[in-house]
Amino acid sequence: MTQENIYKVLVIDDEEILRDRLKQLLQLDDYEVTTAENGPKGIEEFSRISPDLVLLDIKMPGMDGIEVLHRLKQLPHSAEVFIMTGHGGLETAILAMREGAFDYMTKPIEYDELEINLKRAIAKRQLEAREKLHVDEIESVNKKLKIQGVQLLQSAKLAAVGELGAGVAHEMNQPLMAIASHMEILLLNPAITSDPKLLEKVQKIKDQFARLSTIVKRMHDYSSGRTGSYVDETLNRPVHDGYYLFAQQFKDHNIELTINLKEDLSRTKLDRHQIQDVVINFLINSRDAVDDVFSLKEGGRIDIVTRELPANDCILAAVRDNGISVQEGTEESLFNPFFTTKPVGKGTGLGLSVCYNIIKNHNGIIGFTALPDKRKAFYFALPRDPKKNLVDDAGVIPAIQEDLKACFSAA
Ligand SMILES: Nc1ncnc2c1ncn2[C@@H]1O[C@H](COP(=O)(O)OP(=O)(O)OP(=O)(O)O)[C@@H](O)[C@H]1O
Ligand SMILES: [Mg+2]
Repeated sequence: MTQENIYKVLVIDDEEILRDRLKQLLQLDDYEVTTAENGPKGIEEFSRISPDLVLLDIKMPGMDGIEVLHRLKQLPHSAEVFIMTGHGGLETAILAMREGAFDYMTKPIEYDELEINLKRAIAKRQLEAREKLHVDEIESVNKKLKIQGVQLLQSAKLAAVGELGAGVAHEMNQPLMAIASHMEILLLNPAITSDPKLLEKVQKIKDQFARLSTIVKRMHDYSSGRTGSYVDETLNRPVHDGYYLFAQQFKDHNIELTINLKEDLSRTKLDRHQIQDVVINFLINSRDAVDDVFSLKEGGRIDIVTRELPANDCILAAVRDNGISVQEGTEESLFNPFFTTKPVGKGTGLGLSVCYNIIKNHNGIIGFTALPDKRKAFYFALPRDPKKNLVDDAGVIPAIQEDLKACFSAA
């Protein structure tokens, strides 16, 4: 046996001579042997040394072998257990096999038989370990593929919408400009300003026009693939700027808004204005969700945090709210262009897809996670090293979710 292939054997038997004999023989074959003279001690040793193989006497004073076997099988560590019976102990041997023993041997133990049996048990363990390794590998590859698959699908959809959006936005810009200037002229015309009914109608056209312009601007922002001007910056700055813009408005909505910026956050390359846009989109969405529940009355709460996860080499920002929950079944669609659950006229459904694009261009990750008390947090993370892509790290999403749970439960 090579060094890494030293197997541990635990012998549990009340007969001292047999224990010592087995120990000597097995040690000659390079097994690492521990012995115990009764059931309770055997169980104790089992937990302490985590053996690969156990030779267990069936007849012992106090706790018998079947009971010991039963208890060993409840423990988290698993080993192959051989039952050692006297002559005529076939029935108990069968019982032991039903309790999960690997095999049984009749006393006196023949060393040749013992050696073959132990090798069989070791071969089984090696096979199981290899299988487990493969299953683990397949699971981890699957997980990664799933994440990448979702991202790819998202990118493909976004690219398609992007191309269409760019064309539409471009074509609509000219007529929109013309409408805008004609409308300004109308609003200065005394025939209209002196007629309240007419003025109200034109005002309504103006409101709808403003909405249309917003949609076109968003489609343009979205599809122009804004290349961004990336500078060495701390994430705290655009997050704080976004917060600052909304502090007063949220007070008017009776929403308690808090901000908790991590000090000494590592700097990274980011586009300040784009990242601020993401924060603003998160805040507006949270405000709408809170308004849905509290209708401008007290009780609404939105919290902003920035964090750093050194183990995953990333920094992140998150916005938590206690507003209406994300609708069940929509989780996979939230970042899709034009997906909205808001009434017609309230949302374009482009907010989060614009954010998705921005964060993707920063090699980052964007998402949301459910939290206790029916709250949830929308987050985005950026790599500390801008050359790395966080999408390649399958462990980053679970790590972010864990971190946010801990961070918000402490708050
Ligand atoms: N904080 C939140 N709480 C609950 N649901 C949310 C939250 N943020 C986003 N959502 C869900 O995601 C959907 C898409 O959000 P997104 O920002 O892309 O579009 P929108 O807010 O509907 O419209 P807009 O284009 O005006 O932003 C929302 O309609 C809503 O259903
Ligand atoms: Mg939105």
